Amino acid sequence: MQAINVSIDVDKRLWQQDLRGSRAHAAMLAKQGIISFNDAKTIDDGLAKIEDEIQSGVFPFRHEFEDIHMNVEARLRELIGPVAGRLHTARSRNDQVATDFRLWVRDQVDLTLQQLLALQEALLQRAEQYADSLMPGFTHLQPAQPVTFGHHLMAYVEMFGRDHSRFADARTRMNENPLGSAALAGSPFPIDRFATSEALGFDRPMANSLDGVSARDFALESLSHAAICAGHLSRLAEEIVIWTTPMFGFVRLSDAFSTGSSIMPQKRNPDAAELVRAKTGRINGSLMALTTVMKGLPLAYSKDMQEDKPPVFEAFDALDLALRAMTGMILDLEADTAKMRAAAGAGFSTATDLADWLVRNLNIPFRDAHHITGAAVRIAETKGVDLAQLDLADLQNLEARITEDVYKVLTPEASAASRQSYGGTAPDQVRQQIQRHTLRLKER
Ligand code: ARG
Repeated sequence: MQAINVSIDVDKRLWQQDLRGSRAHAAMLAKQGIISFNDAKTIDDGLAKIEDEIQSGVFPFRHEFEDIHMNVEARLRELIGPVAGRLHTARSRNDQVATDFRLWVRDQVDLTLQQLLALQEALLQRAEQYADSLMPGFTHLQPAQPVTFGHHLMAYVEMFGRDHSRFADARTRMNENPLGSAALAGSPFPIDRFATSEALGFDRPMANSLDGVSARDFALESLSHAAICAGHLSRLAEEIVIWTTPMFGFVRLSDAFSTGSSIMPQKRNPDAAELVRAKTGRINGSLMALTTVMKGLPLAYSKDMQEDKPPVFEAFDALDLALRAMTGMILDLEADTAKMRAAAGAGFSTATDLADWLVRNLNIPFRDAHHITGAAVRIAETKGVDLAQLDLADLQNLEARITEDVYKVLTPEASAASRQSYGGTAPDQVRQQIQRHTLRLKER
């Protein structure tokens, strides 16, 4: 029984939240005349002593007392005697754990919000640095059209910006206080739930005591957002893995973020990027674990809910590491702009620009222009040259009205610079987005 029931090894991580909740509860009990101010003072001093003991590593965490709540209360009794028993007036472990866990997730969401800002700032720095640097844009991981590296990095600023807004939104919704729901039905004591809400930084008490002790959607919502964010991190991590392979050679990570091989002296492995990519597995697994634990649970509290903590702790630990490692890699990475520029022009990446030129200058329907361009690509392929290196005569064989002017659109520079539509890859468009996001981040 003890082996399956005990949770102290896991939920000891809630100790700060547990002490915070208990101190707010004791102060409220005294203010409401439910316990004496003397007793509240004795309890508060005892809890402060416990805080010291935990911080200095001498607190006895004991399996016989099951969880963090009972460990703290048992120790309090050892320290201050029977007065300790008054702390649990008008409270149950059901609302206690719901409160502690909500406070923990809220703290972790606050940390995540900070880390997402730091990551976006790092990306903005690099985007600014590489706002004019050309690289191939891909679809199907096949060269498609030239883009700038700055534009590519800014795509991730958009994603992490949305992740930030999702976590911020979840925080608003979760910021209601379960304390005072008691076991499930509320309390016959004249408790003041608004006072404990204020003391703990909640916007208001939860309005239904059954919901107060049973709700875990705040954790599920945070895990969902963590899973989406981890998905974004894994895409960027995957790109770093691709870019750093010598076959691409677009980007280099310093020794700080690369590892060698014990047998192959030439290796520079992007381990951190691979691990960020892999952390997604844990985070997605945690979301699956908790949605499954919560499914079909009757109201109100069931012990199943003790299984809520391991997946949430695991997911947030993984996300914390992944966000920090990714920010470190972005600040560390250096682009080989010459290699990227060369790749940007390869693979007939300006074929679309040729087709567009035919449409705009000769009023040829796009489908026909596409066909003519396809023929031009085949000639270039046979000759082993780029589109920009084809003779005008070759092009005029395909369409007699083509003029010298066409060469202006066949370089990757011209291709990127021409994409001036809002959100397009033209460097001045990208700079506008960099500026907008820089202002947004400054306003925080
Ligand atoms: N350790 C428990 C948990 O994590 C605390 C609540 C226990 N409540 C109860 N009625 N057994 O969920």
